[in-house]
Amino acid sequence: MATISDKRAQLLNTLIKLGHIDRQESERKDSTSCDRLNEEDIADGFYDALCEIGLEKKDLLFLGPMNSLHSFSKIIRPVRSLENLKICPILSKSKVKDGGKKTEDGEEKGRKLQNEGDSSVLHVTSPAESKDVVAIDHVSNHLDSDAFRTLINGCVNALRTGGTLLMREYLHGSRSEEDLTDHFYFRDVATTCALLNTATSSSGKEGLQLVSASAPDPVGGKQEVTWKYIKVSSDTPEKKLQVFLDAQQYSKKGILKYEKVFGHRYVSTGGDHTTMEFCRLFHLQRGQKVLDVGCGIGGSAFFMAQEYGVHVHGVDLSSNMISIGIQRRREGNFHGVDFEICNVMTKPFEPDSYDLVYSRDVILHIDDKRRLFEILFRCLKPGGQFFITDYCCGEKEHSEEFKDYVKQRGYKLLTVADYGKLLEEVGFVNVKAEDRTKQFVNILRVELAEFETQESDFLRDFSQADYDEIVNGWSAKTRRCQAGDQAWGMFLAEKK
Ligand SMILES: C[S@@+](CC[C@H](N)C(=O)[O-])C[C@H]1O[C@@H](n2cnc3c(N)ncnc32)[C@H](O)[C@@H]1O
Repeated sequence: MATISDKRAQLLNTLIKLGHIDRQESERKDSTSCDRLNEEDIADGFYDALCEIGLEKKDLLFLGPMNSLHSFSKIIRPVRSLENLKICPILSKSKVKDGGKKTEDGEEKGRKLQNEGDSSVLHVTSPAESKDVVAIDHVSNHLDSDAFRTLINGCVNALRTGGTLLMREYLHGSRSEEDLTDHFYFRDVATTCALLNTATSSSGKEGLQLVSASAPDPVGGKQEVTWKYIKVSSDTPEKKLQVFLDAQQYSKKGILKYEKVFGHRYVSTGGDHTTMEFCRLFHLQRGQKVLDVGCGIGGSAFFMAQEYGVHVHGVDLSSNMISIGIQRRREGNFHGVDFEICNVMTKPFEPDSYDLVYSRDVILHIDDKRRLFEILFRCLKPGGQFFITDYCCGEKEHSEEFKDYVKQRGYKLLTVADYGKLLEEVGFVNVKAEDRTKQFVNILRVELAEFETQESDFLRDFSQADYDEIVNGWSAKTRRCQAGDQAWGMFLAEKK
């Protein structure tokens, strides 16, 4: 007897034959043949990102559900050529029954959309290097990891080197979840990021490099992420930095481990306590815009949005950080925080756009601090405030142990005084550069004492080695500060 999925497979094959799932090549689609515009789709990051790329005279490959392209008819009009690969939303009727189990890589398991014989959606057969832009609209949620990888590899192949891949994906908790089928997959952003980062062209010589992944405040319950990648030759240094952060210091487990000692939603000194203290230094007013540079899992961003009614743009290069941040945003039902995975050194921020630029224990990772400060100076509004805490080094000759620690972590540290001077040179005024090492040591002691009282709880989720690493790490930080090797700086400045 045919099972429900057999029947679905038959239906799918019929739909392919009837052309409901099809491949369509056309020259410059005539806008008059388009359905009405979908306002909801227009007011989103995917639409904006397509507009930003500019499709004029571009060769575009668009993959999406049947009518998806119609929402973009206005901006798609000037393309040079359009290839449209459609999937059929008729499959989205019944609710999830046996899906929804989380696997280790954060992917939620449903059943496959494609039966074994159907490869029309998965295989992109466009010639290599033939497209300037590939736009993938809500397709990945219908594909398991293998199918998704096949699709993306085909897209990378089809893209011209330097071309843009744009993809919109639902996140867990999306309003659209209500309309879901047993064919739906939710990935966390770290899982999707890893899949996209490892995609290759058929020659293996090109891959994708992340430009940004925006997961805006889910106003109206719409939880989704817009990915923007460019095709580059494999192994660019930029790519290596993100992989380094995600794989080394900020592995998912590493972040969750640090969160236990810094405090819920934080991966920096003092958690909520220091955030509360420092926020009193700013003139934050409801509706203002804050940039949180290296926002981690969002603690400061949520605090400022909730306490002061400001809107926070949290950017971080680690996909693991943003992935956990999105989870914390959902759990806490926090609003007013947009997350974005991007490198702060290459992100083209709008000039004069933030009232406060804020960064907690991040800039230690960044080599070219002058260039970073120039970037951040430019995006701050005149009259805006600039605030940093950061790991620094002492003035004296450093011990070998300290030099090894800094090298192994890949940190680049300045003295507090040099840090302050650099801020002035870049153009900031009213620069306060304070050595807060004493406060840092006090916080380390409190954090460690508190952590030690929670040993048995911690050991339920982590190993003894993890526990020892935190205890030894916190003791070593204290020792390095007392020896004058390490310091902690607090910097407050303004833009005239
Ligand atoms: C110690 S964590 C601090 C996180 C957060 N500020 C907090 O207070 O919890 C440092 C963060 O800087 C981020 N980071 C390092 N280099 C970056 C870069 N070039 N662009 C954006 N974020 C970066 C890391 O991924 C990490 O999340």
